Amino acid sequence: MDDLLQGLRAAAEPTRLRILALCAHAELTVSDLVEILGQSQPRVSRHLKLLVDAGLLLRHQEGSFAYYRLADRGAGADLARQIVDLLPPEDPLHAADLERLQQVQDVWAVKAASYFRRNAANWSRLRALHANTDKVDTALRQLFEREPAENLLDVGTGAGHILQLLGAQVENAVGIDLSRDMLTVARANLFRGGLRHCQVRQAEMTALPFPAAHFDAVTLHMVLHYAQRPGAAIREAARVLRPGGRLVVVDFLPHEREELRSDHAHRWLGFSDAAIADFLVAAGLVADPPRHLGGDALTVALWLGRRPANDTEEADQSTTARGGN
Ligand SMILES: C[S@@+](CC[C@H](N)C(=O)[O-])C[C@H]1O[C@@H](n2cnc3c(N)ncnc32)[C@H](O)[C@@H]1O
Repeated sequence: MDDLLQGLRAAAEPTRLRILALCAHAELTVSDLVEILGQSQPRVSRHLKLLVDAGLLLRHQEGSFAYYRLADRGAGADLARQIVDLLPPEDPLHAADLERLQQVQDVWAVKAASYFRRNAANWSRLRALHANTDKVDTALRQLFEREPAENLLDVGTGAGHILQLLGAQVENAVGIDLSRDMLTVARANLFRGGLRHCQVRQAEMTALPFPAAHFDAVTLHMVLHYAQRPGAAIREAARVLRPGGRLVVVDFLPHEREELRSDHAHRWLGFSDAAIADFLVAAGLVADPPRHLGGDALTVALWLGRRPANDTEEADQSTTARGGN
């Protein structure tokens, strides 16, 4: 009863109700909310603290930014969702807030566009090399249709391509990436696609900020060739897989395009089936037969590793404890 009372008290104030409704639409920073609500930062921060303390909002720190979203887990999650659902959609204040949220989102989109402009040369060159994205996308979509997943983690999510592709097929999805710029683009894409159940976080692929056995499926799509230690990245992905879960790796087969190393920061010029199978097995996964998906200049492969359903051993050893590449 105490939790419920704290939640009700926290929500029973006009600005806090508006904040709850806004954070149900998108993950927002204090500055976003200051801009939308037209109130001072200390005031907005105070409201946010009360809502977080009551469990109605979740706060997530990323560098110097904190992001807030409606709680989707914990004691206050049900209450938060029920309160937001009770808000009349035609309420004029709420409608005006959503309009200003759209303006803030337009600013994100401009930032995203300028990031793409700065990197345009790289993107188009890489796309030309890897022109069979449709084939890979279809294979991934079909895989998730055949074998549905509730909880998806996309490692090295970039602009959120995989979350956009598979988001509608899963209950929850998280994308992680090292690059804040890419995450800004991903957030704008997820907002535009209405994918509220998908989030992104800044993280390093060999140190995922999730407990063991947390996800039904993990994807590493065109990311492994950047990994300093691909084996460690695969082990870390396997650690967060539930028994019965699967890891999907999509990357280049071995090639000789040295310029990808010199000009595009690729660490590895593709991977052989045998190398990936070794990584999967060393991570405790059972490898499916690989699929080669063709490509204009380079061949892309899809590798699948499954964590056995009876493998209930808590994968709580850290990556470093298990060592190796
Ligand atoms: C070629 S992009 C692929 C993005 C996305 N998976 C896709 O297929 O559209 C590779 C991404 O991996 C990210 N990345 C590289 N090294 C990483 C690391 N150590 N940990 C997390 N992300 C990393 C980069 O920032 C970049 O966004």
